[in-house]
Amino acid sequence: DKIAAFRQTLLEWYDREGRADLPWRRDREPYRVWVSEIMLQQTQVQTVIPYFERFMTTFPTIEDLAEAPEQILLKTWEGLGYYSRVRNMQKAAQQIVDDYAGIWPSHMASLQKLTGIGPYTAAAIASISFNEPVPAIDGNAFRVFSRLFKIDADIAQAKTRKVFFEVGEQLIDPERPGDFNQAIMDLGSSYMSAKNYDSEHSPVKAFNAAYLDGTEDFYPVKTKAPKPK
Ligand code: ADE
Repeated sequence: DKIAAFRQTLLEWYDREGRADLPWRRDREPYRVWVSEIMLQQTQVQTVIPYFERFMTTFPTIEDLAEAPEQILLKTWEGLGYYSRVRNMQKAAQQIVDDYAGIWPSHMASLQKLTGIGPYTAAAIASISFNEPVPAIDGNAFRVFSRLFKIDADIAQAKTRKVFFEVGEQLIDPERPGDFNQAIMDLGSSYMSAKNYDSEHSPVKAFNAAYLDGTEDFYPVKTKAPKPK
């Protein structure tokens, strides 16, 4: 069927051209995936790589992070900004060490209860590290899914996340949920980026309803500018 064909096309492209060599993709240990996802929330992939490597050298395990002196913690984050992120990470590390004996919870629902871990990050960790078939809904997923299916729910509205989550649940490959989510991210930052998208050459152009009828510029629908952080 169409969904199976979409998954296959997407994952074949990802296997061929995806960025499999990214340091947080080579090893899918949840601690590494989590650190990378938090860094990538505000910073581009190429910039994150050296920060990620340095963080892992300074704090090789979640216990190291949980126990880190504040000064070293903040120093290691220098250059990335938004220091509340790393402070929240230390709180979550302490929760995992204290409440879970250092063993990561493996489901999106329990991950989301940790400090600083929202639905996107919880889904990313659950899918990439634990193969839970949950879609990671970020700006890339909004863009890709809205164009593929001409979804006109307003992404400026908080409740719209649920619409996209449900679409993603139908679409995600249950055999390779982590790769599926990361393939959507790669698609959303290449052929289906916000600016300069190139749907003509996209591997999934045959599945892109908005491209096929020339309405791509209207997706995703967003009625107002997001509130400043
Ligand atoms: N952006 C957010 N998460 C990412 C990931 N896991 N790989 C590449 N880019 C990302």
